[in-house]
Amino acid sequence: MTFEWTQVSPDSLELEGKNVTIVGGTGGLGRALSQFLSSRGAAVTVVGQTFRDSDKEGIEFVKSDLSSMKESLRIAKLLPAEKTDILVFTTGIFAAGTREETKEGVERDLAVSYLNRFVMLRELLPRLKSQQFGVKPRIFNMGYPGDGQAGNVEDFNSEGKYKAMGAHMTTVAANEALVYDVAEKHPEVNIFGLNPGLVKTNIRNNFLGENSWKSSIVEFFIGWLSQSPEQYARGIAPLLVTPDIETRSGAIFNNKGKNIDPSKPLTKELVEKYAVESAKLANKVLGW
Ligand SMILES: NC(=O)c1ccc[n+]([C@@H]2O[C@H](COP(=O)([O-])OP(=O)(O)OC[C@H]3O[C@@H](n4cnc5c(N)ncnc54)[C@H](OP(=O)(O)O)[C@@H]3O)[C@@H](O)[C@H]2O)c1
Repeated sequence: MTFEWTQVSPDSLELEGKNVTIVGGTGGLGRALSQFLSSRGAAVTVVGQTFRDSDKEGIEFVKSDLSSMKESLRIAKLLPAEKTDILVFTTGIFAAGTREETKEGVERDLAVSYLNRFVMLRELLPRLKSQQFGVKPRIFNMGYPGDGQAGNVEDFNSEGKYKAMGAHMTTVAANEALVYDVAEKHPEVNIFGLNPGLVKTNIRNNFLGENSWKSSIVEFFIGWLSQSPEQYARGIAPLLVTPDIETRSGAIFNNKGKNIDPSKPLTKELVEKYAVESAKLANKVLGW
């Protein structure tokens, strides 16, 4: 059952005193969000590979290659979790045409778009304690929730017959599952899923080829038909701070910030299987 929340104008937001961390805030949707929230007074920390906003006030940069679980854990330990009010995950790529693997033996899309979030949350959850403004710390996990994807948890690391779209749908399902798993096991925080729909960014470069004719055509049409990253950020910013979602942990939202239904295939059992498979891969590398 979906619910409504009261939209307010993004220009009415006053975010002085709010601390926001955006893992993936150096590019695309995370960057647009970081720029908008800081322009409304929030203190924003972004994690990514290339900082493009050194000329903007209110944005701190932490450099990291989050394809590695060891590195993700190291960075999570450095982040100011205790004072973070809002934590957003937007880091991502698309699975490549032929299977790529990180040094830690993980299919690259799974590593960059999902596993670093799983690993960072293990470290950050116990430290997210801010109760500023009387609300619990909030986590927003961006992906493609609500699209009905089950992924393939039986071949979580795409070691069988590889198909880029299949591998990517496993990261999509894992990210949606992560929202429901954390909502169930961690009532001390609120976690939500964000589905931005199709927006013109760099996300498909790995799949279509950066600057390729395929990429130019696809991104041209996406740019023409959909909202820009800046429009998405303005539209979604009021959701991040609305009191109306305080008791709605586990809810997911579409590109207009409307609450949508969870993907049907993601049963409690499947959500748990994703948690178990994620922990197995993390344990292998981190020795947890
Ligand atoms: N755009 C869409 O159409 C669309 C559709 C559905 C879902 N989404 C989801 O929305 C989220 C944001 O995507 P986007 O469109 O904003 O993509 P994007 O423009 O490609 O931005 C991705 C971000 O991830 C960071 N990143 C990539 N590889 C990294 C690595 N190895 N280490 C650290 N950071 C890394 C990038 O940082 P650097 O640039 O600094 O490397 C950038 O900040 C993703 O979860 C994506 O799945 C997007």
